[in-house]
Amino acid sequence: MEKEKFYITTPIYYPSDKLHIGHTYCTVATDATARYQRLKGRDVMFLTGTDEHGQKIEDKAREAGVSPKEFVDNIVDGPRGVKDLWKLMNISNDRFIRTTDEYHVKSIQKIFKKMHDKGDIYKGTYKGKYCKPCESFWTESQLVDGKCPDCGREVQDAEEEAYFFRLSKYADRVRDLLENTDFLQPRSRVNEMVKNFIDPGLEDLCVSRTSFTWGIPVDFDPGHVVYVWVDALFNYTTALGFLNDQYHDYEKYWPADVHFVGKEIVRFHSIIWPAMLMSMEMPLPKHVFGHGWLLLDGGKMSKSKGNVVDPYILAEKFGVDALRFFLMRTFPFGSDGNFSNELLIQTINTDLANDLGNLVSRTTAMAGKYFGGALPAGCSRCEKTEPCDGELTAAASALRDVYEKNMDAFAPHTALAEIFKVIQRANKYIDETAPWALAKDMDANGGRLAYVLYNLLEATRICGILLTPFIPQSCEKLFAQIGADADVQTWDSAARWGARPETAPVAKGENLFPRIDMEKALKELDALQEAAKKAALPALEVEPQLTEKVDFDTFCKSDFRAVKVKACEAVKKSEKLLRFTLDDGTGTDRQILSGIHKFYEPEELVGKTLIAIVNLPPRKMMGLESNGMLISAVHTEKGEEKLHLIMVDDAIPAGAKLC
Ligand code: ME8
Ligand code: MG
Repeated sequence: MEKEKFYITTPIYYPSDKLHIGHTYCTVATDATARYQRLKGRDVMFLTGTDEHGQKIEDKAREAGVSPKEFVDNIVDGPRGVKDLWKLMNISNDRFIRTTDEYHVKSIQKIFKKMHDKGDIYKGTYKGKYCKPCESFWTESQLVDGKCPDCGREVQDAEEEAYFFRLSKYADRVRDLLENTDFLQPRSRVNEMVKNFIDPGLEDLCVSRTSFTWGIPVDFDPGHVVYVWVDALFNYTTALGFLNDQYHDYEKYWPADVHFVGKEIVRFHSIIWPAMLMSMEMPLPKHVFGHGWLLLDGGKMSKSKGNVVDPYILAEKFGVDALRFFLMRTFPFGSDGNFSNELLIQTINTDLANDLGNLVSRTTAMAGKYFGGALPAGCSRCEKTEPCDGELTAAASALRDVYEKNMDAFAPHTALAEIFKVIQRANKYIDETAPWALAKDMDANGGRLAYVLYNLLEATRICGILLTPFIPQSCEKLFAQIGADADVQTWDSAARWGARPETAPVAKGENLFPRIDMEKALKELDALQEAAKKAALPALEVEPQLTEKVDFDTFCKSDFRAVKVKACEAVKKSEKLLRFTLDDGTGTDRQILSGIHKFYEPEELVGKTLIAIVNLPPRKMMGLESNGMLISAVHTEKGEEKLHLIMVDDAIPAGAKLC
């Protein structure tokens, strides 16, 4: 029988900066869903990638002094870039598209031309507002307090010749799609879209730009590049081979079963995307799911705000599975959630170390201690059962169906909550049955003890199967410890209580999730995050040169002289100041105070020949008079201030004038 298909996508990421935990959130959710569908036996296509065009990237590359392609190559393919991150996070995508890939570029040009030939794309004049960071055009009426309604930042006036897409033509069909089908989820997002965008009247969309060049050229009108969202949205089809020969899966996988996207790009995916597909007469995706944001201190995490959390640091410190689990377990997928390190550690300790970790280690330890690691044949039955036996078996046997319902409704957090109810039930079962008490009289109670342990192993196995999409590496270890082979790790067997052979070997292994010392870990994290911030700072930075001209006569009024240090000492009660006694060639000592103790010890400067400006008005510091200023060179290195006094050849006599 041919397998049922399931096509799922993440947004393709904008590689203007390294990815953060918010991006990781969406990709982990997509990965867990893809793995879940594979577990159920579906033929899954999981696509992710990068969206590499647009003015922001052009600007960023210029700032960095590299070409746009070199810039994105580094973030996508470079060390700790996008691909590295997905590898680290154990993301099982089947394909990775870059919108700079040649096949995609060619396909987009064909798509643009098709819509143009059909009359759905026409030439006009664009007048409006543009939000650079969001790459979004807005009309005056869409602005909120004159700012971008998505990110709240300043927008710019823009006017140029441009192509437009007849979005207005599809308004009624899009409204119908949103209001009368389950296309857009969660349902609450439908009202947002209809009220904010459809009700006020859909305007035609500007789909080309002439003011920058980093984009896909409109091949029949040089000078225009395709609007980055048209380029980006069609990735979901070009990556399958639509209008190109790179791949040949378009017929097989399109339409997508679901696009997972963050809430701020729901507008693009639920209005513009279906309208363009309608224009192209292509089937529409079955669902778009708009997930919430991970917030930091109540605000959206974003690189441009500088408040991001680095997934590398967290995954390396706590483990990839712990991080994946935390993201999926803690935040309801459709809503915003507040990220914090405390919450992460707390979730690891409560759910993974306490509940799951303890269940596995207690159960396997007892099977080892009381039965040498293999339960006796016949242990899956018991003559004298107790109500708690039935309760545990019933809960575990019913779990797969509840889980399936929630996973199919894109509610992974609820699916996980259901698993943990069973895990908690199993831990309670240990307390209720008190195996250690049974073990005191093996002759009388050995049969019941084996039965209890068998039940625990079965409950653990079923939970393990359903946890696999979330924490795949840990579940592999779990299965090895509880003696569950591949044939009892299947979706089918998750609904078959008693599938595990009674005498399969049990081997207590390393702790799956060691408890974390909250206070210590928080301190270590702070230090790591600080160090990472510092490492990200430019190696060397100097102040930009002044562009305002100073006329020559004004410049000549400054009197620079060579001076020799006769004495130098730290000023009492000041951490910064050094007091210099200088020979300036006049025969009278000159005193200058300088706040450079951080950079020099006074002794090392005695005898040196320095440069001073000597005709500044006197200044009092800490009750002492300073007559002039010593000249130094300054810059920053990794965010740290550096200073070097200008020292000159000792052959230059004190008092020599610089000109
Ligand atoms: O939007 N919490 O790319 P992008 C949750 N290139 N999700 C977050 C988040 C946070 N703090 N920050 C970002 C783009 N995201 C386009 C997509 S698709 C054809 C083109 C999510 O890199 C965000 O909501 O800015 C979005 O879904 C995804 O990361 C990519 O964001
Ligand atoms: Mg964005």
